[in-house]
Amino acid sequence: MNPTCKKRLGAIRLETMKVVAQEEIAPAIFELVLEGEMVEAMRAGQFLHLRVPDDAHLLRRPISISSIDKANKQCHLIYRIEGAGTAIFSTLSQGDTLDVMGPQGNGFDLSDLDEQNQVLLVGGGIGVPPLLEVAKELHESGVKVVTVLGFATKDAVILETELAQYGQVFVTTDDGSYGIKGNVSVVIKDLDNQFDAVYSCGAPGMMKYINQTFYDHPRAYLSLESRMACGMGACYACVLKVPESDTVSQRVCEDGPVFRTGTVVL
Ligand SMILES: Cc1cc2nc3c(=O)[nH]c(=O)nc-3n(C[C@H](O)[C@H](O)[C@H](O)COP(=O)(O)OP(=O)(O)OC[C@H]3O[C@@H](n4cnc5c(N)ncnc54)[C@H](O)[C@@H]3O)c2cc1C
Ligand code: FES
Repeated sequence: MNPTCKKRLGAIRLETMKVVAQEEIAPAIFELVLEGEMVEAMRAGQFLHLRVPDDAHLLRRPISISSIDKANKQCHLIYRIEGAGTAIFSTLSQGDTLDVMGPQGNGFDLSDLDEQNQVLLVGGGIGVPPLLEVAKELHESGVKVVTVLGFATKDAVILETELAQYGQVFVTTDDGSYGIKGNVSVVIKDLDNQFDAVYSCGAPGMMKYINQTFYDHPRAYLSLESRMACGMGACYACVLKVPESDTVSQRVCEDGPVFRTGTVVL
């Protein structure tokens, strides 16, 4: 461990990671490759809390880990420019550094699945990236992976080819400009529904649909977003309610971002 670039604050890991590459892969959507010791600890579905590299933005920005390459100590993040913070990230290039807290959150449970099992992955828009590592790892375990992706329009389609390496991929677009017209439900309602696990990440409407459709499924997971401040469980800025309780809540940053269906109020 290099003491000049990394320190641990209790369980919180901070590291100055190196930018290996950055590329615009779709309009306003960027893929950032970072390198550092922290990669060793990363799991599918966790996120990094990134410090905006200027003095004006105090809050870190949470971005999911899209893929993990432990052999080369590299990870990929895919993000869309939404405001000032992500716009500044998009100016980073090879050789720059980034102040990173993480890996944060619980990640997806990929345990106890093998060639006897088939799983469904459902991703929407900029929620697709964290599913890439899920598909890769499950495919390596011999699991049959079926993926359904939903995008607004053809221009926004990302990671179709990459996910197709690991199993069958269906793509829907809201306007029908690519793939099947409509949202992911158009495909999912016709699948045989014998999935041993379901992994999903997408916009709130899609997460509500998956939550309802697989409400009682023992292994259906939602990766959720919430406005965050500390990103480490201390400030309670990111809480969600729990069904049938006025007192219990769940923090997206610490208890999530991955939750089982039926366990939080959407
Ligand atoms: C667990 C988690 C994982 C995420 N993963 C990704 C990802 O892989 N790719 C991606 O493109 N986006 C992801 N997001 C959303 C991303 O964090 C926001 O788009 C980003 O913080 C916007 O920052 P900004 O400065 O560009 O925008 P601004 O709107 O200027 O941000 C202002 C403030 O609001 C917060 N904020 C704005 N939108 C969101 C949001 N959707 N969720 C949480 N905080 C928000 C910002 O962090 C910042 O503190 C994720 C969010 C969460 C909670
Ligand atoms: S952002 Fe502070 S507790 Fe989640």
